Formats: sequence, C-alpha cells, structure tokens
Amino acid sequence: MSTNPNKALWEKGDFTRIAESMRESGEALVATLDITDGLEVLDLGCGDGTTAVPAAKLGAAVLGVDIASNLVDAGNTRAQSLGLTNLRFQRGDASDLNELDDDSFDLVISMFGAMFAPKPFDVAKEMVRVTRSGGRIVMGNWIPGDPTLVAQILKISSSYSPPPPEGFVSPMTWGVEDNVIERFAGAGVPEEKIAFERDTYTFRCPGAPAELLARFRTYYGPTMNAFEAAAANGREADLQAELEALFNAQNASQSGDATSIPATFLRVTVAV
Ligand SMILES: C[S@@+](CC[C@H](N)C(=O)[O-])C[C@H]1O[C@@H](n2cnc3c(N)ncnc32)[C@H](O)[C@@H]1O
Repeated sequence: MSTNPNKALWEKGDFTRIAESMRESGEALVATLDITDGLEVLDLGCGDGTTAVPAAKLGAAVLGVDIASNLVDAGNTRAQSLGLTNLRFQRGDASDLNELDDDSFDLVISMFGAMFAPKPFDVAKEMVRVTRSGGRIVMGNWIPGDPTLVAQILKISSSYSPPPPEGFVSPMTWGVEDNVIERFAGAGVPEEKIAFERDTYTFRCPGAPAELLARFRTYYGPTMNAFEAAAANGREADLQAELEALFNAQNASQSGDATSIPATFLRVTVAV
C-alpha cells in the first residue's frame, strides 16, 4: 500500500483505459513539436505514452517518467511491443527528479501530467533544471472554470468529495496564466519566455458517451474517489446523473453510438 497520496491516486485506477481515447490528440500534439531525429525528450507524467510513443516514432530519444508504477509498466510494454528501442519509461516524481541530471533534455513535455504533482514551484524548478539552455518545455494544463469536459469532470467530482487537506494546492491552478508565470519566475525564467495558447484535446471512443463515462467511473482515480465519497453520502446516483448530462451535452459526434468530446486546455511553451 502506497503512503504517497499522489501516487496512490493514479495507481488506484488504470489510466490506460482513459488514454485509449486520447491517442489521436496525443499524436496531433506531438506533430506540432518539431521533433527531429535524436532529439532528447522527457515526457513527465507520461502515463502509458500517449505523447511519448509518437515522439519516439518521430525519432526522438524519449524517457517517460511517471509516479504510477502500473503506468510505467504499461508504457514499457507498449514500447517493447512497438519495437521502439529509443523509448523507455521509469518511475519518478515531477516534484523531485533527483535521478535526472541537470541540462539533460532538449524538450520536456508534460500533457496533464506535472500539473497533478504537489509542490508546483518545485515542479517548475525541476522541469527547468533538466532542460538544456536553448531547449523547450511544453505543458498542457486543464483550465479552472472552463466549460469543457475535463475541467467540468474535476469540478463536479470535487463537489462530491471531502475538502482537500490543508495546504493542498489544486492542480487546476496550473491552468491560470499568472500562476504559471509566477512558478517559472521562481525557477529563473522571465515572463517573456513563456507563451500561452488555448488548444484542444478530443476524447474519442467507439461507444456512446455513457461508455466513456463508465471508463472514468471505473478507471480514473479522481472520479473513482468522487463516486466512493458520493456513495458514502447516498449521492452516487446524483453524481452519475450529473456526469451523464455533462458527457451527453459535450458529445460532438453525429452518431448516437460514437463519442467525440473536445476539451480545451492551456498550452504553455517555455523557452529555456
Ligand atoms: C491525466 S494523466 C495524463 C497521462 C499522459 N500524459 C497522457 O496524456 O496520457 C496524469 C498522469 O500524471 C501522473 N502523475 C501524477 N502525479 C505525478 C507526479 N508527482 N510525478 C510524475 N507523474 C505524476 C499520473 O500517474 C498520470 O499518469
């Protein structure tokens, strides 16, 4: 049993089952990163490789680091089955990358990964420390108050969950530009080296929206916890109904038995 609540949250479920619905967007995102042969890339909070795999397919030398052992194992299995010898995964914590040397990577990617680590100022420092001068950091962060899927799942889930422990910094604060600027300033990066844009990830799956919701309910740590808390208060059905309404309303697919839900995020690019 893990004593690190951050690790326990992501090992509780099986994020690979959600990641399956994010593959196309992961590939599309990586295609915009000007990846060249031999570029040294760190994918932080990489899960099972939604962005690490396409980066390696483009010829980069990729290290995926994730706090969850099950996802590191799943990533290594994918790398092996795809024959990608330029891709490996290891366990690590974005708040303290002590196993990685300074100035090791040309590009650090963190799509909805590092935002979930505690101690955001340490996370910014670690990302900057391991990036070479002239390199880049690219983060994708969900935006608080955004009306699209993931921000709403997290908002609804937290409204059914007990209040977080004192001192807890919400991951969603990484979706606020002023916080990002302040955190990278703490790591020695001036504001003019940070660019922001709104971008979109689309969650796709072959079944109806209810099937994608079932995957979140069964495999996505934050939603699993919310259902447990709701059940303890007899409010499970309310949570299910609220999420069902959300998933149905957000589905952009014309077909009733396919799901395609676009979700907006804050894309952060830092020139180191
Ligand atoms: C929403 S998932 C995104 C995974 C992947 N980047 C993707 O796009 O499919 C969040 C990931 O961040 C990882 N994570 C959470 N806290 C972390 C930390 N402190 N250090 C490293 N990884 C962390 C989780 O284990 C999980 O794989």
